[in-house]
Amino acid sequence: MRIPVFAANWKMHKTGLEAVAWIREFAVATKNLSAADAEVIIAPPFTAIAAAVEATRGATLAVAGQNLHFERQGAFTGEVSAALLKAAGADLVIIGHSERRRIFGETDESVQRKVTAAHTAGLVPIVCVGETLEERERGETLAVLDRQLKAGLDGCSGDQIAALILAYEPVWAIGTGKNATATEAGEAHTHLRRRLREWFGGTHADRCRILYGGSVKPENIKELIGLEDVDGALVGGASLESSTFAAIVSVSATL
Ligand code: 13P
Repeated sequence: MRIPVFAANWKMHKTGLEAVAWIREFAVATKNLSAADAEVIIAPPFTAIAAAVEATRGATLAVAGQNLHFERQGAFTGEVSAALLKAAGADLVIIGHSERRRIFGETDESVQRKVTAAHTAGLVPIVCVGETLEERERGETLAVLDRQLKAGLDGCSGDQIAALILAYEPVWAIGTGKNATATEAGEAHTHLRRRLREWFGGTHADRCRILYGGSVKPENIKELIGLEDVDGALVGGASLESSTFAAIVSVSATL
């Protein structure tokens, strides 16, 4: 039995004050939701992490970074290490988001190094994989997922796989309003779980939560979360309003 996870990726939105206001509103909107129904994660920009951590003290919300640098420390102007994130109070970190891969040149190799750095610092990685529209149209979806998964998780132990969170985010569905159909998402998630089982063993693979991301909204979450291997959602645009994200999370309580 995997507890569903809902993660709000705020991307480059929200000040510390806005984060605190969102957290207060969200707590009111989800006051009837228990921690056994769902785990909730927010990923604010670096500059709002400290305020978010303070505001979530005593709440069941966990805070994640949106990226990290794989070196521990050093002359890397503008970068933030896993240890710095951990010290700021984050417990998780998003790694390999398609915007990082596409806009900032992140590679499968850097994803792997970041996963190792996160584990070393005691952060839970949220590892993102997903194909572009061109890759899907060429029939390469599963091969792309295999490549990203194998390279990104290389060196992980079974226990680390059980604890980490995987996110399937088809690039063509991100920020486009066009989500994957249940058939498309189901195929990808089942494939990812099958690979995890082959590479890391069934016991560990069956504990790993695999989230769907890409134009998730209150209107489409029910169909997606109902799929066997979909264990929650990584939400961008629809997470910026606390009430909309609360509506998405609340679906888990009605399952
Ligand atoms: P949207 O929900 O805005 O499509 O973004 C998804 C995403 O990138 C979450 O990481």
